[in-house]
Amino acid sequence: MASNRGEFSSSLGFIMAAAGSAIGLGNIWGFPTQTAQNGGAAFVLMYLILAFLVGYPLLMAEFVIGRHTRSNPVGAYQKMKGGKNFVPAGFIGILTSSLILSFYSIIAGTMMAHFVEPIFRLLGANAIADWCISNDPIRNITFTTIFFLLTISIITGGVKSGIEKWSSRLMPALLVMLIMLTIYVLTLNGAGEGVKIYLLPDFKKAFTGELLLGALGQSFFSLSLGVGTMLVYGSYISNKENLPRLGILVTLADVGIAFLAGLMIIPAIYVAANAGTQIFDEGGNLISGPNLVFQVLPEVFKIMGGLGIPAAIIFFLLMSVAALTSSISMLEVPVAYMVDAGKASRKTATWVIGGIFWIVGLIIAFGGDAILNMVVSLTTQYSQPLLGLVICVFIGWVAHRNTIIEEIKKGSPDIENTFFMKTWPFFVKFISPLLILIVFLKQFF
Ligand code: PHE
Repeated sequence: MASNRGEFSSSLGFIMAAAGSAIGLGNIWGFPTQTAQNGGAAFVLMYLILAFLVGYPLLMAEFVIGRHTRSNPVGAYQKMKGGKNFVPAGFIGILTSSLILSFYSIIAGTMMAHFVEPIFRLLGANAIADWCISNDPIRNITFTTIFFLLTISIITGGVKSGIEKWSSRLMPALLVMLIMLTIYVLTLNGAGEGVKIYLLPDFKKAFTGELLLGALGQSFFSLSLGVGTMLVYGSYISNKENLPRLGILVTLADVGIAFLAGLMIIPAIYVAANAGTQIFDEGGNLISGPNLVFQVLPEVFKIMGGLGIPAAIIFFLLMSVAALTSSISMLEVPVAYMVDAGKASRKTATWVIGGIFWIVGLIIAFGGDAILNMVVSLTTQYSQPLLGLVICVFIGWVAHRNTIIEEIKKGSPDIENTFFMKTWPFFVKFISPLLILIVFLKQFF
């Protein structure tokens, strides 16, 4: 049975796919944005701490459940002892992953539009170029649809010749582009000021509820946790693989890329300031979100002169690629459920589910910012941390300890007395759920 589901062909292939899922708009847009909003380095620090204390243990929990059951979130809870009561959480995870796909594709579509804009301009097609960066609803529909079609076409290819193949091609390209841009931005006038803000923490801000919640949400979103993505990818890992090691590599890649993206974007904001652009909003906060990406950064590209056009093309291509290797992982969750439950072939499941959430995406796009913000906060601020909590409770308190240890031992027989085995069980049982709960409840007080 398991062999029909597909399996990643090597550790590298898996790392590319899982890092591809983790590294996305959350790293390259969300992380720098949140850092800017929360006073720089203090946020960076809390994010790093939470990514390792909560994110990594949870990532491991998802890998273990996934590989042990070789199933999707619903099937996994159905198969494991004591999991029956958790099945609804499995369904909520699948729904959340699909909803994230819907709004993510709108933003990714906008990135693609900004990627092709300078190309059309170079070709002299100025009218089309203007349209690409306009607010025309047809523009949104067009690019969201193209992005959905790309996502669907990769997922119909399956685990090896879809997910693994494309992640392995796109992720190295992403890394090269990001490093090139970061180095270049750091040589521009004014970048130094941004580096300072980014790296020197203002500890007064480190423990505010808002910052902590932002940092926790960021680590969940960035590592694709709670909604079953990593569980499903874990279900395609071969028994030979060493799960704790894979988990650490994926976490390091994710955190590393977020850090690098911040090191490019925060200094870029100060490069724009140096050239006279307004970089603070009315509230006195550093500009962030869409204004940052679609207003401040284009100013920076202008300052770059002749190199501005290639830099803009590379930047928005980078964003689009990062988004695509993440969106495929979101679609894979409901598709795996349909296929595992015998409800449809991979191809049919992909087109049907892709089609449904494409329509949901268009509805969100037309609903305007209020609807978009509601879906974003429902899925990422509430659903993801709460589902993460449920997974900790299941693995830490309900599932049989031996089952879990045996699963981890499959690919790492010598794990018994390692640092990992001495700490991880304690973390998933106490530390991670407690931290999630504290940070989550803090927002209500
Ligand atoms: N990790 C992705 C990002 O940082 C987003 C994501 C969330 C992917 C949930 C899958 C599931 O952009």
